[in-house]
Amino acid sequence: MEFTKIDAEILNEIKAAIGEGSVFTDQESLINYGHDETEDLKFPPEVVVKPANTDEVSALLKICNRHHVPVTPRGGGTGLSGAALPIYGGVLLSMEKFKSVIEIDTDNLQATVEPGVITEVFINAVGVHGLLYPVDPSSKGSCFIGGNVAHGSGGPRVVKYGTIREYILNLEVVLPSGEVIWTGANTLKYASGYNLTQLMIGSEGTLGVVTKIVTKLIPKPQQSVLMLGSFLENEQACGAVSAIFRAGVLPSALEFMERKGVEWVVKFDNIKFDLKENANAFLMIEFDGDDINTIFNDCEKVNAVLEQFGCTDVLFADTAAQKEELWRMRRTMAESVKSNSVYKEEDTVVPRAALPKLINGIKEIGLRYGFESICYGHAGDGNLHINILKAGMSDDDWKNKLKEGIVEVFELTITLGGTISGEHGIGLVQKEFMPIKYSEISLNIMRGIKNVFDPNGILNPGKIF
Ligand code: LAC
Ligand code: ZN
Repeated sequence: MEFTKIDAEILNEIKAAIGEGSVFTDQESLINYGHDETEDLKFPPEVVVKPANTDEVSALLKICNRHHVPVTPRGGGTGLSGAALPIYGGVLLSMEKFKSVIEIDTDNLQATVEPGVITEVFINAVGVHGLLYPVDPSSKGSCFIGGNVAHGSGGPRVVKYGTIREYILNLEVVLPSGEVIWTGANTLKYASGYNLTQLMIGSEGTLGVVTKIVTKLIPKPQQSVLMLGSFLENEQACGAVSAIFRAGVLPSALEFMERKGVEWVVKFDNIKFDLKENANAFLMIEFDGDDINTIFNDCEKVNAVLEQFGCTDVLFADTAAQKEELWRMRRTMAESVKSNSVYKEEDTVVPRAALPKLINGIKEIGLRYGFESICYGHAGDGNLHINILKAGMSDDDWKNKLKEGIVEVFELTITLGGTISGEHGIGLVQKEFMPIKYSEISLNIMRGIKNVFDPNGILNPGKIF
């Protein structure tokens, strides 16, 4: 791709438009904004720009589009697929100044929020009004809601409440040309042309820069119960997942964890948990609602299913503190593995009845290629995160042979009716695997869409395909 390097003249133009105080070229900024949470990848940009409003984003994109300077939008920098890495240098566009919860509309159960608001801050802000915004990825304490839009994010509550796609009603977007559009309407439905809102969601910052977000909200459930079932085998735990839904209940979370993952968080994150000897796999099951008796009935139904699948022990979290600690165990798993081992992270998703075949297949492929894996994830959605550990693999095998193993994992996922990412996106590191899932015809449709939005290809180039 042919891009223009940022010379003194372009830099001055950017400074004049956005303000000198919002434009950074010092080494520290370039290093800090040159990585996200994806492996140990580093791509320093040429300049970091922090616009404060839609007009400034528009002015910046006009300049970059005219000069063919690449622009990489960035949220909280918690991404796991490298979508926010400025691989061609250019401008790193940080959305961190878009920090305002503009309106919480308690009549319509909607909110208008800027993309740089931290997801948990938004959840708490609507919570004060007795409302729930249920999209809470594990990184909720540091990810931005704009980044969640860009990735079509999920998290543990998707199984009952759906992904962010269910909650976004309308978006203000600055196009690569600098023009500003609203994608839809602040209504719960519409049937008026192509759905540009849904097209923007999950587009990983390649089509436009989101500057305002209108979300749907729901009443906050008053009660919840959290239970943890232990199993001897991964296969039993994974097998129980689809049976739970067949029993006629809908948990608000249904998470799977492998023993090894629990061992790591207990050891490295100081989680208080009594890890029993024969507990090799876990299901964390949560129910929420307003009527505690209905919840207890659902728990009984689940108990019966767990027994059928050889569950050896069921723990009910009695106190808020115990619930919090179990959730901390689950939510810190990714970070715990990342900070203590060389690893690669894959994000498979299959129809949930196929989970036993998926996990057995992953282990079998691992044995053949010599990699260890820690699997956990949103089992209720059929979404398994695979942390592949370097363990005993030689540097050479890790660099060259592992990829074939990953291809096998993805081929298996697709044979089972699934796909290559459930919620972490494609970004930089998964794009080479896209042809496993999509034909050239489908990929060309995606390229065509990109071209309509961004004919000069300046916005987040080198991502997705
Ligand atoms: C999780 C992140 C890694 O589920 O998606 O913890
Ligand atoms: Zn996840």
